[in-house]
Amino acid sequence: MLSYQHQYHAGSFADVHKHLIMRVLFESLLKKDKPFCYLDCHAGSGVYDLKSAASQKTAERVGGIDQLWHLNHKNSTLQAYLDAIKSLNEDTQLRYYPGSPKLAANWLREQDRAQLIELHPQAQDDLRRTFTRDKKISLHARDCYEGLPAIIPPQIKRGFVLLDPSYEVKDEYTQIVKLVEKAHTRWATAIYAIWYPLLPSKRHLHLLDALKRAKLPKVLISELHILDQDKYDADRNHNGMVGSGMAIINTPWQVDDKLSDLLPYVAETLAPGFGSSHLVDLD
Ligand SMILES: C[S@@+](CC[C@H](N)C(=O)[O-])C[C@H]1O[C@@H](n2cnc3c(N)ncnc32)[C@H](O)[C@@H]1O
Repeated sequence: MLSYQHQYHAGSFADVHKHLIMRVLFESLLKKDKPFCYLDCHAGSGVYDLKSAASQKTAERVGGIDQLWHLNHKNSTLQAYLDAIKSLNEDTQLRYYPGSPKLAANWLREQDRAQLIELHPQAQDDLRRTFTRDKKISLHARDCYEGLPAIIPPQIKRGFVLLDPSYEVKDEYTQIVKLVEKAHTRWATAIYAIWYPLLPSKRHLHLLDALKRAKLPKVLISELHILDQDKYDADRNHNGMVGSGMAIINTPWQVDDKLSDLLPYVAETLAPGFGSSHLVDLD
């Protein structure tokens, strides 16, 4: 059984990176009135209480959403993301952080739909509680490796699939690419976005190699590095994340421009003096 619980990592710098890219991809779909379908392969719990013991234990929000929460920024993508978080928090204090399904629920229009896939029973219960009355959202309590190919293409043919595995097993870096390759043969027009961690072991290079071999169309890689080199050199046992990555497939027009406007600022705000953002096309 899976042991990963996103509650420990909610609101981290990696969530900020992933959810801002998610917003940019939503914006490209929201440009047209035509409906679209959002498919979340690793939905998690949907909403996270940052005052829970798990969140307080790691305090990952401190290097993440806490750095941006108070900002009033003219970048419309950042503002839409912060507005979605604010809508969950009546108070001026930040207590609840929306996971990807809750952000999606905020941004869907009447004509759009979301399908959530989640394997962990506790997270499934949380999702049922949060979305039971939202007719636009359906839950698939199953493993995405068999579930995603089984439910695509959806009736609504425009869409976006988010893959956000916990990488508890090492071969997930290549398995997730195989899943996208398979999904792409059934639903070729969808946008796919795979999140991955940047670790000192550089295991994500297996994912990038697999993606190159797969020859999927229009692959854009966004990485956010938050490593403080001095601190890192002083701590030989450091094995936590040093950055966050996202591989986008079938990247829509102008997404690269939007990300290059936004992410350098976000990197510098999250990690002043050493944060950086990198954007490359994967050839
Ligand atoms: C990183 S968390 C997801 C966070 C969420 N996407 C967000 O941004 O708020 C990964 C989730 O995937 C679930 N999971 C892991 N392997 C899975 C699988 N094979 N199929 C479906 N869900 C899985 C875990 O239980 C966990 O809730």
